[in-house]
Amino acid sequence: MESPSEPQCRALSPWWGLLITASILSCWIQPTSAQVTVVPNPPYGEVNHNVTLDIQGFSGQALFYIWYRKAVVETNKIARYTVETGVQEPADIREKVLPNGSLLIPHLTLNDSDSYHVLIVDSQGNIIVAQGHLTVYGPLSKPFISSTNMAPVENMDNVSLTCQAEGQDVTYQWFINQSSPAGDRTVLSPDNRTLTIINVTREDQGPYKCEIRNPVSFNESEFTLNIIYGPDTPRIFPTTLNYPVGATIELNCSAESNPPAQFTWLNNGIQMASSSKLSIANVSLNHTGIYTCKASNSVTGLSSSKDINITVSERTTKPNLTANRTNVIENDTLAFTCGTKQAGVDILWLINNKSLNLSERMKLSMNNRTLTILSVKREDSASYQCEIRNPISSSRSDPFALIVNYGPDYIKVVPNPKKGEIEVKFKDSLILACHVESYPPAQYIWQVNGTVNSNMTTNIYFIQNVIWKDSGKYTCLAKNTVTNLSVSRDITIKVLGSNGSSLSGGVITGIVIGVLAGIILIGTLIYIQFFRKTKRVSKHQLSENHSARKHGEDNTLYENIGQLPGSALPAQQVLDISREDIYDKTLPWKKPEA
Ligand SMILES: *[C@@H]1O[C@H](CO)[C@@H](O)[C@H](O)[C@H]1NC(C)=O
Ligand SMILES: *[C@@H]1O[C@H](CO)[C@@H](O)[C@H](O)[C@H]1NC(C)=O
Ligand SMILES: *[C@@H]1O[C@H](CO)[C@@H](O)[C@H](O)[C@H]1NC(C)=O
Ligand SMILES: *[C@@H]1O[C@H](CO)[C@@H](O)[C@H](O)[C@H]1NC(C)=O
Ligand SMILES: *[C@@H]1O[C@H](CO)[C@@H](O)[C@H](O)[C@H]1NC(C)=O
Ligand SMILES: *[C@@H]1O[C@H](CO)[C@@H](O)[C@H](O)[C@H]1NC(C)=O
Ligand SMILES: *[C@@H]1O[C@H](CO)[C@@H](O)[C@H](O)[C@H]1NC(C)=O
Ligand SMILES: *[C@@H]1O[C@H](CO)[C@@H](O)[C@H](O)[C@H]1NC(C)=O
Ligand SMILES: *[C@@H]1O[C@H](CO)[C@@H](O)[C@H](O)[C@H]1NC(C)=O
Ligand SMILES: *[C@@H]1O[C@H](CO)[C@@H](O)[C@H](O)[C@H]1NC(C)=O
Ligand SMILES: *[C@@H]1O[C@H](CO)[C@@H](O)[C@H](O)[C@H]1NC(C)=O
Ligand SMILES: *[C@@H]1O[C@H](CO)[C@@H](O)[C@H](O)[C@H]1NC(C)=O
Repeated sequence: MESPSEPQCRALSPWWGLLITASILSCWIQPTSAQVTVVPNPPYGEVNHNVTLDIQGFSGQALFYIWYRKAVVETNKIARYTVETGVQEPADIREKVLPNGSLLIPHLTLNDSDSYHVLIVDSQGNIIVAQGHLTVYGPLSKPFISSTNMAPVENMDNVSLTCQAEGQDVTYQWFINQSSPAGDRTVLSPDNRTLTIINVTREDQGPYKCEIRNPVSFNESEFTLNIIYGPDTPRIFPTTLNYPVGATIELNCSAESNPPAQFTWLNNGIQMASSSKLSIANVSLNHTGIYTCKASNSVTGLSSSKDINITVSERTTKPNLTANRTNVIENDTLAFTCGTKQAGVDILWLINNKSLNLSERMKLSMNNRTLTILSVKREDSASYQCEIRNPISSSRSDPFALIVNYGPDYIKVVPNPKKGEIEVKFKDSLILACHVESYPPAQYIWQVNGTVNSNMTTNIYFIQNVIWKDSGKYTCLAKNTVTNLSVSRDITIKVLGSNGSSLSGGVITGIVIGVLAGIILIGTLIYIQFFRKTKRVSKHQLSENHSARKHGEDNTLYENIGQLPGSALPAQQVLDISREDIYDKTLPWKKPEA
């Protein structure tokens, strides 16, 4: 009866005998029946839910629907449904055949997973058999994560995490910190169940999440790795290295480590404490030393340590600045000593509150304790201080006011004598001012014609109304009682008649000379008129003529002035010299013009 070209009937052939007993008479060729299938709706059964097994692809008029499980055999029959009567046999079962032939299975259990077959007899007497598979899935319980190493050691161990789930058709997915595993050191097994981390580091702690799914359910578990690491090099806090005597030293030590490190403190190799904290109250100088924090990891058996060099110092006290000379005279060699009994201090020197720039004439001893000034100069007069410093404090000595005694030198007479001579008119007043540089200020003695005039005790020699016999040799003598040096200058005063004539010899020759003097006066007046504008220039030139002279040789210089050209200027003009010229310490002498 079966046709070799008809797969439908061929499929039926094993059960043909049974079909006979089921009063099925014939197998008709049904070209369309190849597409008739049983399709679960929803596609997957879920425990405790319902499913409808729909017949799809059947378009005929059915007389009967007979449902089987596993195979179309009588013993596997679930129910027979007669369309005309709408009667299901047996009726008192869980499964219900619906009028359109679908099989409704309520309250699914995992055991309902199976293949289901339906045999349809249509109004033409055709027999169509269709089948489909129902899989019932239960809810997934949390997967169990197992690890190959519960305490992997950093940079040494590999760890494999395996996710174990119950149920079928479970798919696995791993997440590390919410993202998929990536990188060279993570490897997934082909079934995605096992995640291997190669050569773990402390950052690989996780959490690791395994997600499992089947078509109807989902669950997940997390796992955190307990990675053993450290101890890393300890850190010591605070990092203060210097403490004053009497302070309390409190040092805290920490080190990255799992499990947490155990700490010991050592001072110069001797154990001081067996905790992370070291506290020493009221420290003394002998607490200076190397302190070591040692951290150990009991699991790895490793340890690492860190040193801190602590220095305990006394607070500095004011040093005592002394000089090896009290009465300092220019060109002396002077040594300052910064007196302190404290060790381990740096010494600095200050001049007028600013740090000292060593000049060529200054030398510091090896430890800066002594400042030597070779050939002290007047400009070295200043306030000197020394300062001692250690890491915790600094102290300055009282200022030492250095006074350098010098001079007298740079003697100058105003008005400036020309050829050693000053001319003054009869009845005019004469003011001679003598200037020197000196400390302490010089004492002045005036001599006239070699005789001391004890009325004149300052640097000024003054005559109200000059008379003829006031002419003569005047000497300014300046004396410094500390340096015991003195300097003098001679000036020849010439008294001129009111018409300008010099009557030093008396009135006798006056008339004769007066005539000559008159001529000279006229000449002089012309000279004055003519050179008034160039007065300063002339003076300048004069200065230049004297420039090559050394100040120290002033007396010689004075002698030479008379022989120099341009020195015949009238006294009046010389008196015009500004006060700046008088006090200019560098003196206006310049090089003679070629
Ligand atoms: C058959 O009937 C049931 C209930 O009315 C319905 O859920 C199902 O979709 C129907 N099947 C087909 C193939 O139409
Ligand atoms: C995961 O499984 C546990 C029992 O192991 C269950 O209580 C929980 O509801 C499940 N979670 C989900 C999302 O199904
Ligand atoms: C593990 O990693 C560390 C650095 O991360 C490396 O020094 C070490 O050689 C690695 N060990 C192995 C077995 O790959
Ligand atoms: C870790 O895994 C790597 C790569 O598979 C392997 O070469 C290495 O020997 C493993 N190390 C240990 C300690 O098992
Ligand atoms: C494993 O996971 C990857 C990516 O998540 C996926 O493409 C692959 O199909 C999975 N393999 C298995 C056997 O589930
Ligand atoms: C996971 O995230 C935490 C915090 O963001 C981080 O400390 C840890 O290193 C991360 N772990 C991995 C394996 O990326
Ligand atoms: C600190 O130590 C010194 C001696 O080192 C002692 O004289 C002083 O009394 C101590 N001070 C305190 C507060 O303990
Ligand atoms: C440090 O000095 C104190 C006195 O200042 C003394 O009591 C103590 O024994 C000394 N410690 C050491 C280690 O020398
Ligand atoms: C601590 O002192 C020792 C010897 O005095 C020296 O060798 C070492 O370099 C010092 N360490 C630091 C961090 O200064
Ligand atoms: C110091 O020396 C200079 C040059 O050698 C000299 O001119 C000056 O007079 C000296 N001063 C004293 C006060 O001796
Ligand atoms: C002061 O010390 C310096 C340098 O040692 C020395 O040359 C000088 O003679 C000393 N002066 C006195 C007065 O001792
Ligand atoms: C100084 O001596 C001269 C001549 O020797 C004389 O003419 C003059 O009057 C004397 N001057 C005084 C102030 O004694």
